[in-house]
Amino acid sequence: MKIKEIVDKHGKTPDKLIEIMLDIQERSGFNCLSREDIAAISKEMDIPESRVYSVASFYTLLSTEPRGKYIIQLCHDVPCYINGSVNALKVLEEELGVKIGETTKDKIFTLEFTSCLGCCEIAPVMQIGEEVYGNLTSSKIKEVLNELRGKA
Ligand code: FES
Repeated sequence: MKIKEIVDKHGKTPDKLIEIMLDIQERSGFNCLSREDIAAISKEMDIPESRVYSVASFYTLLSTEPRGKYIIQLCHDVPCYINGSVNALKVLEEELGVKIGETTKDKIFTLEFTSCLGCCEIAPVMQIGEEVYGNLTSSKIKEVLNELRGKA
């Protein structure tokens, strides 16, 4: 689907900008918006390119850099920190062979921090796509990664 079709599907009003950007990003194959994507969105929606870029670079769900198929967002706010996000990070980095902010060589996973996901009662928490995984333990993290590797 071309960018014009995606914009037409959602509507050209500014309140649809993030939905449009997420849709285009998902179709990119790299979980990111290229400079060409940003320019095309700007043109189709009649919004300054600088504004489109500022939205793309502000929200953690959006990116202007290529990322893996699955973006692991590990919460690092206080309740998750107190309940073991440091251990969860250690397990994720060891299992994936990358540091925070990096993408695995096979381009399957990108590991990022995020702020509170609003479910502190199940801390520590990570989000992958629309799925939230809480009460993270070493074995639970390995299970989730293996399941996603099987789908990739
Ligand atoms: Fe992690 Fe709220 S602090 S979900």
